[in-house]
Amino acid sequence: MINMACINLTDDEIQAAVNVLQSGALVMGKENAAFEEAYAAKTGAAHAVSSSSGTAALMLAYMTFLEPGDEVIVPAWTFIATASTVAFCGGTPVFCDVDPESFLIDLDYAETLITNRTRAIAPVHLFGNACDVDAIEAFAAKHNLRIVWDAAQAHGTTINGRDVGSIGEFVTYSFYPSKTMFVGEGGMTCTSSEDLAAAMRSKRAHGQSRKYYHDDLGLNLRLTDVEAAIGNCQLKRLDDIIAARRTNAAVLDAGLLDLPGLKRQRVTDGCEHAWHQYCITIDADEFGMTRDALKDAMGEAGIATGIHYPRGLHRQPVFVDRFGTTDLPVCDHLAETILAIPVHQGLTSSDLNTIVESVQSNCSAAV
Ligand SMILES: Cc1ncc(COP(=O)(O)O)c(C=O)c1O
Repeated sequence: MINMACINLTDDEIQAAVNVLQSGALVMGKENAAFEEAYAAKTGAAHAVSSSSGTAALMLAYMTFLEPGDEVIVPAWTFIATASTVAFCGGTPVFCDVDPESFLIDLDYAETLITNRTRAIAPVHLFGNACDVDAIEAFAAKHNLRIVWDAAQAHGTTINGRDVGSIGEFVTYSFYPSKTMFVGEGGMTCTSSEDLAAAMRSKRAHGQSRKYYHDDLGLNLRLTDVEAAIGNCQLKRLDDIIAARRTNAAVLDAGLLDLPGLKRQRVTDGCEHAWHQYCITIDADEFGMTRDALKDAMGEAGIATGIHYPRGLHRQPVFVDRFGTTDLPVCDHLAETILAIPVHQGLTSSDLNTIVESVQSNCSAAV
């Protein structure tokens, strides 16, 4: 079976975890501090604050500024955590449609969502593709909004030569096993602000200034040192992981992009995509087969694929019940047409050939 993710830890990463377990310094020890420093250095961020997950990283960002009733514009085409964290922090996620080719937040649509309660915008560097950072910063400045960049899927993504982690007050990452960088469960919030870094470090540990003295409202959102140690080790091979993904994406491009009815996520101008996911859309009439039929056929050929996502967040009952719904035509269309195919660093050239040949052979229009 050709899988969607490669979650093999190296011997060094396993040994680093064992060393922490043997040391007994399991939480907020030197591996954690070193991981924050190394991740900040890697991305070029001024500060990086570790946490227990990508969801926790978003929570920490919102906990520093969101007030009850604040609205946050969130693309409906993303993982639920981008929006559920807004709701948990007392805000209202207001769902925005996305661009049909890049699958990233559509600023023209966002403009129609502005009210006097809009406090922030939450762009997502989806699948490892960067948003148009300059345009979003200009939009936020025009409407006086904070920006919470969700980079859970964008380890190593650059825009105009800069790592996306170096841009902004809040840039959140996930180290969940399906991600380009993976430690088990884990998250990081990069920030340009020393004060925000201090506030988030306080909030991830019960707002405790010294033992049992609590100055601020917080939670336990800490990363363990076991995971930080894996992260410290894995950071050294992150460039290799991303280089392999870029090479694989180029092979897929060469084999697939001429097929009628098949389009691949458009890469933002100036972006070096990190290929967390390689997502295509299928126009059933032109391709000669629906997305679902292609998925089934590839599955029968031993190739796993993914649907990210089967429905937009504006259609998820948890939000419909609380905030109502609206039609978002691009998201609704993507739910029927999008497909992620394997691109990870563990693929062999034979795997890549198998994937390309499978898609080609199912495209009846190409015969
Ligand atoms: C876009 C996005 N945001 C946030 C998260 C949440 O990260 P975690 O699963 O580490 O909490 C994910 C994880 O899938 C994600 O893809």
